[in-house]
Amino acid sequence: MGNPFVGQPQLPAAGAVPSLPHVLSEARTASSRGPSPAGIPTGITPPLPAVMSPGMFGAIPGGLSPVQLPAFPSIPPEVPEEMRHPVSPGEIRLPGPETLAAISTPAAQLATGPQAFATPGASPAQVDRTVVERAAVGVSPGPADQQPRYEGLTAFVQRMRLTGCETRPAGVVGLPGPHPFESLSGELSRLASSGSLDVAAVRRDFPILQQRVHGQPLAWLDNAATTQKPQVVIDALRHFYETENSNIHRGAHTLAAKATEAYERARETVRRFVGAESAEEIVFVRGTTEGINLVAQTFGHRFLRPGDEILLSVLEHHANIVPWQMVARQTGAHIRSIPVNDRGEILLGEYERLLGPRTRLVGLTHASNSLGTVLPIAEMTALAHRHGARVLIDGAQTIAHLPVDVRRDQFDFFVFSGHKVFGPTGIGAVYARRELWAELPPWQGGGNMIREVSFEETTFADPPARFEAGTPNVADAVGLGVALDYVTRLGLPLIARHEHDLLEYATHQLQRIPGVRLIGTAREKVGVLSFLMDGRRPEDVGRFLDQRGIAVRAGHHCAQPSLRRFGLTATVRPSFSIYNTRDEVDRLAAAVRELTGR
Ligand SMILES: Cc1ncc(COP(=O)(O)O)c(C=O)c1O
Repeated sequence: MGNPFVGQPQLPAAGAVPSLPHVLSEARTASSRGPSPAGIPTGITPPLPAVMSPGMFGAIPGGLSPVQLPAFPSIPPEVPEEMRHPVSPGEIRLPGPETLAAISTPAAQLATGPQAFATPGASPAQVDRTVVERAAVGVSPGPADQQPRYEGLTAFVQRMRLTGCETRPAGVVGLPGPHPFESLSGELSRLASSGSLDVAAVRRDFPILQQRVHGQPLAWLDNAATTQKPQVVIDALRHFYETENSNIHRGAHTLAAKATEAYERARETVRRFVGAESAEEIVFVRGTTEGINLVAQTFGHRFLRPGDEILLSVLEHHANIVPWQMVARQTGAHIRSIPVNDRGEILLGEYERLLGPRTRLVGLTHASNSLGTVLPIAEMTALAHRHGARVLIDGAQTIAHLPVDVRRDQFDFFVFSGHKVFGPTGIGAVYARRELWAELPPWQGGGNMIREVSFEETTFADPPARFEAGTPNVADAVGLGVALDYVTRLGLPLIARHEHDLLEYATHQLQRIPGVRLIGTAREKVGVLSFLMDGRRPEDVGRFLDQRGIAVRAGHHCAQPSLRRFGLTATVRPSFSIYNTRDEVDRLAAAVRELTGR
């Protein structure tokens, strides 16, 4: 593969020394702004300082005294020329521990501190770990009156993170190292403050989890792809087919009435679950993919004109890219992508710059299925609305994990799949505000969606029927309703807390394994981890884990642009749900460690 950084800014030669105030303010702006849209960590350019002021850090608890500190990652002369240049997006080469050890300056020792934090097992930390951790998230590790002292350390650590501070033994620096997650968002943690998920009881609800695969208990860690089904959902499908099955809305008989009632009850359950005002705002579809195609083909044809713009984040699943590309081609609209920083977080400043008078639609996944990043969708929706654009939220990766309130957050469209939330495959829903549905033309024609048909003219039914041509998937809609009730009974705040715990635990376990590199270290994440192993293809890792009874996804996760952003084509992706346990995470970590041969 060629060097994708050819022509990009390069690391500064040693000795380039901008003035200190400039450097500090740059570091602060960089830390709030994140890396540049071109994918170059902002910290790489302008040149980094070679010297930091001795007074900058003050006396740091943990025993490190103030010293003359060449700033890391200024490049000492001992570092070979070929290690000075970026090798792929998000990666720069910096001296490894051996080289650092050979440079006997306090700066090199200091530099190993955060690296030791990011890569346990690296050279001994000379900086108290708590200090670095706290500084990295901008919290003063000392008394309030010492706050200014730590500003320097905070800026320093953040700058290191932005420039990629995770040193590997080979001397290649990976993406910015994992850092402490922010705690659950305030509202969620308040709601989850009492009680906890009874995971053992939850596991008993899922018959499929009782089986063994290759002689090992099944550890289903492929929940971002699909979730398993609780007995109540399986029973509901069986009950429907055994006692209620009929076509709906048409027959003048008892079973038609029963089936219609069950189907419309499910629509009401979806309404409640997403916080819509009226059940008529919910249209059943096959899943997220069909839902987005519906919006693209109806909204797109009604409102897109040549030169209009559709903004999509780089993190989108192909389901939220390809339908827009198709309608863009048909209408002459253009697609523009919203970039992310090296942690996989949306660059809000760039997003604001992209919004404009031509923006008609913004399509955002609530959470990335490849990296786990949770997008600030409420804030992004408000910004889009200021420019008169409509917003579609792809809820596939959050519907089973985070509460949603489409009215409070004023989404125009919200789409999800039933199978991601313990419901059947082949069913999902699209929410849109009533006034918006009313403006949209039908996209598929047939029975169930008309008021009057003649060979001269057809008049269409009101929404939602206008968008549900043909016999709907009645049984699976009923199953979806039961699945959503199941989630409601468990409580999304408790679910979110349980999965957050697994995410933190798994992150910690995996990042300790030499040769494992985590991709996507956003501060707000759902329970999705992406990782790579030195010298192993993700597909091979997936197959190896399967032999140990552990199901994970390995590949591009139908989100190629998001991986390409990091110079990658595939990762290994474990993803968590309500029935997963720390035990299963331990098994995953043990299997990965086994594969490293250490
Ligand atoms: C974020 C996201 N969007 C859309 C989809 C597509 O969902 P479906 O295949 O159920 O239509 C997925 C599936 O993985 C997803 O993760």
